Amino acid sequence: MKLWGGRFAKSTNVMVDDFNSSIRFDERLYKHDIIGSIAHVTMLAKQNIISAEDMAVIKSGLEDLLDDIESGKVAFDIHEEDIHMNLEKLLIDKVGQVGKKLHTGRSRNDQVALDIRLFMRDELVLVDDMIVNLQEIILDMAAEHLDTIMPSYTHLQKAQPITLAHHLMAYFEMLKRDRSRLEDAKIRMNQLPLGAGALATTTYPLDRYFVADLLGFDGICLNSMDAVSDRDFLIEILAAFSVMMMHLSRFCEEIILWCSNEFQFIELDDAYSTGSSIMPQKKNPDIAELVRGKTGRVYGSLMSLLTTMKALPLAYNKDMQEDKEVTFDALDTVKMCLPIFSDMLRTARINKKNMYDGAGGGFTNATDAADYLVKKGMAFRDAHEVIGKLVLYCLNHQKTLESLTLDEYQNLSKVFENDIYEAISLEACVNKRQVIGGPAKEVMEEVIAINRTYLGMT
Ligand code: ARG
Repeated sequence: MKLWGGRFAKSTNVMVDDFNSSIRFDERLYKHDIIGSIAHVTMLAKQNIISAEDMAVIKSGLEDLLDDIESGKVAFDIHEEDIHMNLEKLLIDKVGQVGKKLHTGRSRNDQVALDIRLFMRDELVLVDDMIVNLQEIILDMAAEHLDTIMPSYTHLQKAQPITLAHHLMAYFEMLKRDRSRLEDAKIRMNQLPLGAGALATTTYPLDRYFVADLLGFDGICLNSMDAVSDRDFLIEILAAFSVMMMHLSRFCEEIILWCSNEFQFIELDDAYSTGSSIMPQKKNPDIAELVRGKTGRVYGSLMSLLTTMKALPLAYNKDMQEDKEVTFDALDTVKMCLPIFSDMLRTARINKKNMYDGAGGGFTNATDAADYLVKKGMAFRDAHEVIGKLVLYCLNHQKTLESLTLDEYQNLSKVFENDIYEAISLEACVNKRQVIGGPAKEVMEEVIAINRTYLGMT
């Protein structure tokens, strides 16, 4: 007999049990369900809704149940549908009739809305730690590569020389915003839904503020219909996960390019690469590709939940049970991707020479050559044209700006003097860009120091 079986004359079809039940995937909420139940009975006793003796029996029964589950002594049953009913049934089996008082003034609707909040709140702490770990790796690498000159790109065409530190720290900033998006989602999620009942609260004199306090919520959901019917907080988390994965995916794409024979900017450690079953020479960046690939999967979870929630009438609908699989899948994916990506990055070997060589040769110093003329008094638009002509001359004569003779320079403008060579050296191109946010060593050191403080490292 089901816990809700009173008004039924027949038992459920076996297919229905299978189809309807969520225990396969919501069993992972067991601990948070028990924590929530303990807070609930504590409040029921404080409000004299149940006796202190009954509360004590239920509380210790729940604690024992938690131990039983954690030591692998408990098998959940698909006939009990979900984690909430499984635990209630197990409690009643353990403590007897008094266990039937646990669900006083509560519905599974506010219970599940509570559990998923408690669960995700803890999980987001773990995810945040993983992001911080990646940020620390990036920061250390950046500090090591303040002088590692490499090309930057727009349209994947060489643009201007930068340093590896500058490039890496771009991702550091993205991860800062990813953390803050998740933190922000957590703030809105951290409101207590319990006490909403099925949708219209209850006639018992519940003390929701007391429960909120016990469970570390910042406040309570002020509308019981809203409390049980929305999953916007999960959608926000999935959106933040998606954006973070988008960032990782772009980083992966660059790593894949940098590993290619054409670039050879980095080489991944053997431990983070794979071979080919047919081509003996291959060393493939599978990990980076797979993180890039899994980004689509996380987007899928976001779209899936948005679509599930679209047009659902208030309040709870069973459709909402679909929130868990997609949320857990995205969470698991993110928790798998972050550490493996971090280790892959940390162990990569940087080919400084190829980066340096790549920074030259593609007229990446053309802007600096124009700026040179400006500093000598020419208007920027005129300087742009002079250098454009010089580039064309170089292309026609297979030369670079560095290898032009002074005569060749002066044929185009008498303003050029011998100091042009120093002005267009890659080192000058990088280290004269001293505007904060730029690649010059001095300002990079400043930014790294700011970010060390941000990470609480100093
Ligand atoms: N397993 C359900 C879910 O995840 C719990 C809530 C069930 N509520 C109900 N009225 N059937 O959504």
